Amino acid sequence: MPTSIEWNARYQANNEQPVACEVLANYTHLLPATGKALDLACGFGANARLLSQHGLETHAWDYADVAIAQLQQHDSTIHTQVKDIIQQPPAPTSYDVIVVCHFLERALITPIINALKPNGLLFYQTFIQEQVSDRGPKRAEFRLSNNELLRLCHELRLLIYHEEGRVGNITQGFRDQVLLIGQKIQ
Ligand SMILES: C[S@@+](CC[C@H](N)C(=O)[O-])C[C@H]1O[C@@H](n2cnc3c(N)ncnc32)[C@H](O)[C@@H]1O
Repeated sequence: MPTSIEWNARYQANNEQPVACEVLANYTHLLPATGKALDLACGFGANARLLSQHGLETHAWDYADVAIAQLQQHDSTIHTQVKDIIQQPPAPTSYDVIVVCHFLERALITPIINALKPNGLLFYQTFIQEQVSDRGPKRAEFRLSNNELLRLCHELRLLIYHEEGRVGNITQGFRDQVLLIGQKIQ
């Protein structure tokens, strides 16, 4: 896994406009009107910016301070933190919405689910092993196997699950990735 130094170098060299992930951009109608949201491993924070525009009290964490500094400059209302999220996961029952996009640490999924408040929503999108292009991480362990995200999040009420793998006409559809939206019921 790249270190924070390597991520900082990537962000320093990158001046592309960040784009929110499909799991959030296509399903903003599921967001609550108020509440506290976290964009975990946010990078430049396109998802955080969308959550903030939606009116949520938005927090964004990443260990790449270059990306966090740019996000803070863009939207000073977002509560940013430079931190290692594996060492310091979110506290239990602390967020109404958590978004994770293109970050995978399997051991963190249970703490992430625990960090949702009752009725809280998890928006998760990342790369899968059954790919049709070379987008995303090269190492298989950083990509999810078939239905793995479904299994990892089985305790949530499933609202959206989208994983096409290589089924059918692979020149069409939502490929290379999986997305899940689930609600904590308690
Ligand atoms: C592929 S980028 C995704 C960024 C953003 N979520 C997006 O979709 O544009 C992965 C991000 O995870 C962050 N990251 C990786 N490991 C981390 C850790 N242990 N603690 C905090 N951030 C981490 C990196 O700095 C990087 O910004």
